[in-house]
Amino acid sequence: METTITATEIAAAKGTRLLVMVTATDEPSARLADEAGVDVVLVGDSLAMAALGRPDTLSVTVDEMIHHTRAAAAGVRHALLVADMPFGSYQAGVSDAVRNACRLVAEGRAHAVKLEGPRPDEVAAITAAGVPVVGHLGLTPQSLHRLGGYRVQGRGIDQALALVAQARALERAGASLLVLEAIPPVAAAAMTRAVAIPTVGIGAGPACDGQVLVFADLLGMTEPPRPRFVRRYADLATTIRGALGAFAADVREGRYPAEAECYPDPPGLAAALAEYREEA
Ligand code: KIV
Repeated sequence: METTITATEIAAAKGTRLLVMVTATDEPSARLADEAGVDVVLVGDSLAMAALGRPDTLSVTVDEMIHHTRAAAAGVRHALLVADMPFGSYQAGVSDAVRNACRLVAEGRAHAVKLEGPRPDEVAAITAAGVPVVGHLGLTPQSLHRLGGYRVQGRGIDQALALVAQARALERAGASLLVLEAIPPVAAAAMTRAVAIPTVGIGAGPACDGQVLVFADLLGMTEPPRPRFVRRYADLATTIRGALGAFAADVREGRYPAEAECYPDPPGLAAALAEYREEA
């Protein structure tokens, strides 16, 4: 029987190996990530841009996150499945936070949830409810308007020390893992050293305990401008456009379907149909 990686194993992995996290939005993307052996599949609210064509993450609802998480859950056999708590689902207080985290687990089949920002009370309450929590510090896209855009965080000494304190507070609150986004490498390294739980970076340099990228970004399915940290491991946009163009040309020029792509005609049916037409 295949074993699933637990949040406890992820939390204990620090210093033993580098963790790999990839986002997924549905069953095929989650299945492929799982088959590739990633440790954590994240159904991130970046699906707003990656799958729903929206300008930012702010309009994603809990119901939408449940819908996508449940689809991803169908593809995951081994990885830890983490669902993002969307904007508005935990900011109003701990009871909202616990209720919505429980929905993502019960209805979405997530193993853990992720929430943005220094929110130790919410992390503690959700953890006490039995749901492992991943924290997310640095550039927190749900605070886009307060941050004044998608800006690197922790560039000054006070800001960097504040991030270190936030990381410690989330660890004390019970977080199993921290995502560090858009932070200078030295600040992310200080945060990583300051906690006994692993950090996973996205635009946070090489000293983190692992790295995460968005599925569509790493496979070359997103258009420029792309964040500086995106490394493209494939150019699927070109591959997909080429394949769809070839299909369209084959249909238009009568090359598809070929005989081998049709179900065989039952013996005698052609003659019977010809006769039927003659009688009509
Ligand atoms: O929503 C998301 O994809 C994320 C990653 C940037 C970690 O939170």
